[in-house]
Amino acid sequence: MNVISVDGLSKSYGKGTTQVNALQDVSFQVNQGEFVAVVGASGSGKSTLLHLLGGLDKPSGGYVHIDGENLYAFKEKERAVFRRRKIGFIFQSYNLIPVLNVEENIQLPLLLDHRQPDKAYINDLIRTLGLHERRKHLPSELSGGQQQRVAIGRALAYRPAIILADEPTGNLDSANGREVIELLKLSVRQYHQTVIIITHDMNIAAEADRVLHLQDGRLQSDTRSLGRGV
Ligand SMILES: Nc1ncnc2c1ncn2[C@@H]1O[C@H](COP(=O)(O)OP(=O)(O)OP(=O)(O)O)[C@@H](O)[C@H]1O
Ligand SMILES: [Mg+2]
Repeated sequence: MNVISVDGLSKSYGKGTTQVNALQDVSFQVNQGEFVAVVGASGSGKSTLLHLLGGLDKPSGGYVHIDGENLYAFKEKERAVFRRRKIGFIFQSYNLIPVLNVEENIQLPLLLDHRQPDKAYINDLIRTLGLHERRKHLPSELSGGQQQRVAIGRALAYRPAIILADEPTGNLDSANGREVIELLKLSVRQYHQTVIIITHDMNIAAEADRVLHLQDGRLQSDTRSLGRGV
């Protein structure tokens, strides 16, 4: 089943002579459970694409359907709620709330929605992330890798259908980066989630089911891995 459908997606910034066509007529579909890498040179439009997939920006043209819903037909507020429930974001900067501890940061999306967290699942998640001993610590008391794992925990708190990650291993050393990727793969397998990850790391791209290559805002190639992938 297509969980994401992108049709003729375009995004330009600015006007007149300073206009930048960051994305131009990009179309593709993603099936549930796929682990997709997005690669391309700096400025090729990767982050722009990810933001549009997640409803964080507005396209200049084209459509994004998530689970059959036209993402940009929602009113702003409805889109925010839809996003919180369906999509987990992991950014390169962790965007943790400094005054909340590990456990609170992870549960934040649920608390914002006035939902009772599923204690057993959250506990499990914190253990899997290797953060059990640090659950009452503030972000400032954690290493970079630990902070990134908290950000992943927050993205997974809702068990979202889709995880969008913008260079989640960019600030990590190779061991911590590896751990992050293993966690994402585990999460895909366990909960049949869909992951789209931007990466400059060809080793990570090689492990994906599929690699989307952007060049100057266009989808240059869409390659499926011959192996089993995840
Ligand atoms: N808010 C903005 N206003 C104007 N131009 C923008 C804006 N955001 C991005 N751009 C331009 O759009 C193009 C695509 O940017 P984008 O951030 O999507 O690239 P990227 O592939 O993620 O690059 P990187 O690998 O460096 O993160 C670039 O030329 C960038 O300068
Ligand atoms: Mg980027």
